[in-house]
Amino acid sequence: MKALTVVPLSKGTTRLDDIDEPPESDGPVLVETLAVGVCGTDVEITSGSYGWAPPGKERLVIGHESLGRVKDAPDSAGVSKGDLVVGIVRRPDPVPCINCAVGEWDFCRNGEYTERGIKQRDGYCSERYRIHPEYAVKVDPSLGQLGVLLEPTSILAKGWEQVERIGNRATWSPKTVLVTGAGPIGLLAALLGAQRGLEVHVLDQVTSGAKPGLVAGLGATYHTGSVADTGLEPDVVMECTGVGSLVFDAMEHMGEGGVLCLTGLSSGGRSLGVDAGMINKTMVLENEAVVGSVNANQRHYKAAADALARAERQWLEKMISRRVPLEHFEDAFVRQPDDIKVVIEIAK
Ligand code: BGC
Repeated sequence: MKALTVVPLSKGTTRLDDIDEPPESDGPVLVETLAVGVCGTDVEITSGSYGWAPPGKERLVIGHESLGRVKDAPDSAGVSKGDLVVGIVRRPDPVPCINCAVGEWDFCRNGEYTERGIKQRDGYCSERYRIHPEYAVKVDPSLGQLGVLLEPTSILAKGWEQVERIGNRATWSPKTVLVTGAGPIGLLAALLGAQRGLEVHVLDQVTSGAKPGLVAGLGATYHTGSVADTGLEPDVVMECTGVGSLVFDAMEHMGEGGVLCLTGLSSGGRSLGVDAGMINKTMVLENEAVVGSVNANQRHYKAAADALARAERQWLEKMISRRVPLEHFEDAFVRQPDDIKVVIEIAK
């Protein structure tokens, strides 16, 4: 079968390969892949700066944002032939650590977790894959191909859960959220904020393209410029850019008792002049919190599946800015100015 593979940490090695059918050891549920989303992590992997091949192998099948249709499953699987499913990305570490032991692999303590399409496990960008039923999440059939947005949504379902758990350390009734960055992660953070009934503000640099309209479509307000320019003192900030200076700007402008959730990955290597003492003082005096959040467990995938099922289809449709057939995979990894979510189509 066809699969998109790469030699991790080796630039220019991405290619469409002919590989063996998925091994039974990957699980009893056989899935036909329909589509795979492309994110910043995939761009890093295909450009040779991230990723690990499975033990004993040179190449990694990429793809961790998936959508597929079950072809075959045992009676007890909880999914059956024809169901649309999304595969969970992370698997617990083999030790396991205290978090992995209870299914909270997103909080793995020893770094020995594996991730499909990223770290030591083949991903989903192949015509078929196999999976254990507990890692296959059912998608509302009316979503169709839009179900490919489930994995990125799970990242925000976890992010929002962290924010709410922290917020609820005291009586809490948040009103405003500022989302920094109107990429796919930022827009999905805004969607989940709007679904919570909050007043949503989104800050980005661009003034044209689909982003302002997508933000307006949620009943939210679009801003350009700096965090200070928004004039807000938000109860929640969802940081979705990984830009270091924005992180510190956001810390400075949070409201009393505010929670800042960091979801973006920075490349590092840049220094910034910040008034650390002042930031510390306000954070202490105003009970503010900053939390980093990565990956997602089964609970977050289920919350994400519910959130997508409730979302307006036309809005979700606009999130997918380009569809690229598997044969033209190279185009999927070259960013176009109007890109939001780019999807590789594998089957109809
Ligand atoms: C994925 C996460 C993963 C992280 C680090 C992200 O792109 O969505 O599931 O944990 O990369 O590998």
